[in-house]
Amino acid sequence: NQRGIIFDLDGVLTDTAHLHFVAWQTLAKKLNIEFTIKNNEELKGIDRMNSLQYILNLSDIKMNLEDKHKLCEEKNSHYLELIKTISSKDLFNGSTALLTDIKAQGIKIGLASASKNARLVIKNLGISDVFDYIADAHNIKNSKPDPEIFLKAAEGLGCDPKNCIGIEDAKAGVSAIKSANMKAIGIGCSNELSQADMVYKHLKNLKLESILAL
Ligand code: BG6
Ligand code: MG
Repeated sequence: NQRGIIFDLDGVLTDTAHLHFVAWQTLAKKLNIEFTIKNNEELKGIDRMNSLQYILNLSDIKMNLEDKHKLCEEKNSHYLELIKTISSKDLFNGSTALLTDIKAQGIKIGLASASKNARLVIKNLGISDVFDYIADAHNIKNSKPDPEIFLKAAEGLGCDPKNCIGIEDAKAGVSAIKSANMKAIGIGCSNELSQADMVYKHLKNLKLESILAL
C-alpha cells in the first residue's frame, strides 16, 4: 500500500510561466501576432506544439508541420537561454519543507510535467534527487488532460493510483489527476480549479497534514 505524491512542476514548485511568456511573445512578435499575458494563462500545462497552435490560432496564419516544428525549436532555444538563470532561489516558498516532510513519512515523490525541459529545470532548482520517479513529455503519448502522465508516474513509483495524490496548478492537469482516479490538490484559483479536492492559493499554504487528511 505504498503511498505517493505526484507533483506537477511549472506553476507548482516554481514559476516558469513568465519565462515561457517571454519566449512565446518574442516568437509571436516575429509572426505579427499579438500575444498577451492573458493568453499566456491559457497555456498552463499545455505542451509545446499545442501552445504554438494556440498562438497561431490567434491569427489566420496556416503553416505546415515542418515549419511548426522549426518554430517550436526556435522558441525552445530562447527558453533554454532563459532557464539558465534558474536556481534554488526560484523554488516557491515552502517547497523544500514540504518535500522533506513527505520523504520523512516514507511517501514516494513523483513528478508529472508536460515539459521536455523538466529534468533541466529541477536540476537548476537543485531538487533532482528528491524524485523517486520522473514522468515528463518525453515518456508519454497523450498530454494532459489525459491521465497518462499521472498513471505513468504512479506506476514508476510502484503505487496504486488510488494511493496517490496529484498536485497541479493547471485546469488540464487537475482533470488529468481526477481521470487517473487520484485525489487532486490545486494550487491557484479555486474557481478555475473547481475539479480539485482541495485548492490552495500558494504552495506555502499546503502542509503535509492536510495532504494526508485527504
Ligand atoms: C508545462 C507548462 O509544464 O510545460 C507549459 O505549463 C509548457 O506552459 C509545457 O508549454 C511544455 O514545456 P516545454 O519546456 O516542453 O516547451
Ligand atoms: Mg503547471
